[in-house]
Amino acid sequence: MESISSTPVEVEAVAADSTSYQDVAALPAITESERVDDLDPIPTCTSTLTYRNGIFLAPMVRIGTLPTRLLSLEYGADLVWGPEIVDRAIIGCERKVDPHTGVVEYLKDHKQIFSCHPIERPYLVYQLGSSDPDLAFQAIRTITQADDVAAVDLNCGCPKPFSTHAGMGANMLSTPKLLCNTLKAMRRAAPPSVAVTCKIRLLPTQKATLELVDKIVRTGAIECLTVHCRTKDMRPREPALLHRLREIVDHVNSIAEKMGRAIPVVCNGDVWDAATAPKIKELTGVTSTMIARGAEANPSCFREEGNVSIPQVIAPKWVKYSIALKNPIGNTKYCMSQLAFKPAEAGNVNGLSKRQLAALRMGISQAKTHEELANVFGIDVEQVRSQSVAEDILKDLREALDARIKRHSSGFDGQRLGAVINNASQSSDQGSAGGQQTNDGHAKGDNQKKATSNSPQPEWKEILANGIGENIKNEKSILYYAFSTVEQPSSVHDAAKPHVRYVVHRGFVNEKRDGEADGGIAPQNPSFGSSPCLMTTTDVRTPKVAQLTSQSSLRASGQDGSRGGECEIAWWIESTQMQFRISGTVHVLPTKDHPLRSLFPFERLSPPRAPDAMDQDAESFDWDGERTRIFNKLNPGLLASFCRPTPGTPHPNSQQLDSAKPKDDTSSPWPLELPQPGKEENDEQKKQLEQSEKNFALVVVEPYKVDLVNLADDTRTIYELVEGENAATGTWTSRRVVP
Ligand SMILES: Cc1cc2nc3c(=O)[nH]c(=O)nc-3n(C[C@H](O)[C@H](O)[C@H](O)COP(=O)(O)O)c2cc1C
Repeated sequence: MESISSTPVEVEAVAADSTSYQDVAALPAITESERVDDLDPIPTCTSTLTYRNGIFLAPMVRIGTLPTRLLSLEYGADLVWGPEIVDRAIIGCERKVDPHTGVVEYLKDHKQIFSCHPIERPYLVYQLGSSDPDLAFQAIRTITQADDVAAVDLNCGCPKPFSTHAGMGANMLSTPKLLCNTLKAMRRAAPPSVAVTCKIRLLPTQKATLELVDKIVRTGAIECLTVHCRTKDMRPREPALLHRLREIVDHVNSIAEKMGRAIPVVCNGDVWDAATAPKIKELTGVTSTMIARGAEANPSCFREEGNVSIPQVIAPKWVKYSIALKNPIGNTKYCMSQLAFKPAEAGNVNGLSKRQLAALRMGISQAKTHEELANVFGIDVEQVRSQSVAEDILKDLREALDARIKRHSSGFDGQRLGAVINNASQSSDQGSAGGQQTNDGHAKGDNQKKATSNSPQPEWKEILANGIGENIKNEKSILYYAFSTVEQPSSVHDAAKPHVRYVVHRGFVNEKRDGEADGGIAPQNPSFGSSPCLMTTTDVRTPKVAQLTSQSSLRASGQDGSRGGECEIAWWIESTQMQFRISGTVHVLPTKDHPLRSLFPFERLSPPRAPDAMDQDAESFDWDGERTRIFNKLNPGLLASFCRPTPGTPHPNSQQLDSAKPKDDTSSPWPLELPQPGKEENDEQKKQLEQSEKNFALVVVEPYKVDLVNLADDTRTIYELVEGENAATGTWTSRRVVP
C-alpha cells in the first residue's frame, strides 16, 4: 500500500511552484481498458463531510502547502484545500511515508509533487487540474491509493494561462460536457469514502451560470460546489459579485432536493476573515465560506477572536513546521514572503517597530537554508529537529482540533458547527424496536458488583463476562470468536465481500483480571470504569486493516474525522450454551506516527470516568498505555509473529519448504519466539521487538447490537445501544424475541 523510506532523499518542490503541463513529461498512451465508460452509473459516496457551517482554506498554488494548511487548521479552518495539481503531474508519482515525521510525499523523479500529513487527513481536499476524464480518473486513483485525503476537487476556476491553455481551469466553464464527464470520472475513480467536489467561477450572464450549475449538480457526482464570485475575466482587485450567489444557492438547493440530496454551495471571493464571514453568509444564503488571500496574508484569519501576530506567532511557527516537516526551503521562503508583517495586530499590543519588521523581511529574503531562516527568528534548529513531530510539533494543532471536536459534540459552537459532521446518529428515535416493548438493558441487582464500572454495564456484557469468568478453566477455546468484516466493492461491477476469521478476545477496554476484586475483574486505570468495547489484535500491515478503514460506514464515522468499518462477532460459549452475535464498528489503533492513527476515535471509545475521578481535571484515557499493556501480555510466539514479513506475502524460502521440517530454521527465517519487552537478551531481540511493536495494532470493537441466543433455556434477547449514544458510556435497551 505504501513504501516506507528511512533514507532522506533530496527533493525539490514543484507542486508548490508550478504544475502546469509544460513542466510535466507526457504520459504513455492509455490502453482501451483504462478508458472511462461514460455510460456506467455513478457510484454512491459514503463520505460524512457535510460542508455546512464551515470556513475553509481555498486552494492556492504555491501557498497551500502543508505548513499553511496545518496553521489554517490550527486557527479554525474546518477544511483545507491543497494547491491545484494537474493530472499528468500526479499520475505516476511514487508515494513515500517518512517514518519519523509521518509526512506522506508523492514524488516523481525525486521531485515532491504533493505532500500531506495524517493529522490533516479528515479535513484535506486535494484539488485536481484536468480537462480529460481518462487522465482525471488515473490521477484520482493515484492520490486516493492510500487514504491520504478526505475529498478531491476539480478546479474549474483558474484563469491563469498555465491552467487554461490545456483547456483546464476556467476554460472548463465553456466546455460543460467535458467538465461533467471529468467529475463523473473522478467519482468513479475515488473510493466511496472520498467525496468529489467542484470549484467554479461565475459565467458572464446569470442565465448561463445557472444552466452550467444545473448540469454539474445533475451529474450526481459532487457533494459540494464552491463558487468564486468573479467571472473569468475579472481581476482579483475587482469586487466579487456576491449579489449573484443567492439565486445560484437557491437553484442548487432545489435541484439537490429533487435528487434527494444536499449539495451545499460554498461562497468564495472577498471573504477576508472569520469576522467578515457572517455578513457574506447573510447576503448570499450560503452556510460556508472559503478564504484565499486572507489566509495567504495570515493563516490565523479563520480565528473568531481575530488574527494573531505574524512576526511573533505565525512566522516562527511557520519556520518550525517547515524544519520539522522538511518543507522545501524555496516554498517556505515564498509563503513567508507573502505573510502580512504588520506593526500591530489584534491582541498584540507590543507590536514590533517598522524597523524590526523590515529586518525580519530582509532576513527571510536572504536566508538560503532552514538554519539561516531559523536564525532570523532565534529558533534552535537542532532542538526542533530533535522533537517528536506527533507529540511536540503538532501538539498545538492536535489540542486545537480536540477542543473544536469537543465543542462541536457538546453543541456549544453556535453558528460554527464545523464541517466535519457525523451524518449518522441524527435520529433520536430511541429503540422503538418495531413497536415492541423495550426494557432497560442494564445489569441489575447483586450481579452488578461484578462490573468494575462506576456506571451500570449492559446486561449482555455481564452475562458474557460471567460466562467466561466461571468457565475459562474448563473451556480452553472460550476466548476465541469468529470475527467478520466486509471488503468494499472495488468498482460498480463488483460486490461487497464478507471475510471471517477466528481471533482471540483480549478483554474489554480497561479491564484486568484480579483475584482480589469483586467478580475477579478490576479496572486497569482506576480513574476510569469498565467499557463494553471489546479488544483484539492485528498486524497493521494486513489487508484486513485496509478493509476496515476503507469501509467508512456512516455509523463508524465520528465528528472528529475518525473512521472505521462494520463488523460482526459470533461467539459460542459451550459451557453456558449461549451464542452472542455482536454487531459493532471496528477501529484500529496502530503505533504513534502511523498514518491510520488519525482515524481512531480516541475520545468516543474512552471508558466512563470513575465517580471519584469525575471532579478531577484528569488526563484523557491513556490509549497508548492500553495498547502497550495488551502487547506486553502477548505470548512469545505471538510477539515474534509481528516481526515477520507481512503475513500472506510470498515465503522467502518457498522453494525449500517441501523438504524442511515445520518451524525449523529453513522454513522460518525469523525468530519463532521473542521474550517479553524488558526481558530481551541481546540487541537483536531488542530490534526485533521494536519491529513487532511497530506492526502491532490494537483492534477495538464498539458494539451497538447484541443478539443473545440462550439454548439452555431457549430464549433470545436483543440488546441495542440507544441511537446516537457511544457504547462506552451509553444506554442499552433489551427486548425478547422468538428464539
Ligand atoms: C496565490 C493564489 C493561488 C491560487 N491558486 C488557486 C488554485 O490552485 N486553484 C484554484 O481553484 N484557485 C486558486 N486561486 C484562487 C483562489 O482559490 C480564490 O478563488 C480567489 O483568490 C478568490 O478568493 P479570495 O477573494 O479569498 O482571495 C489562487 C489564488 C491565489 C491568491
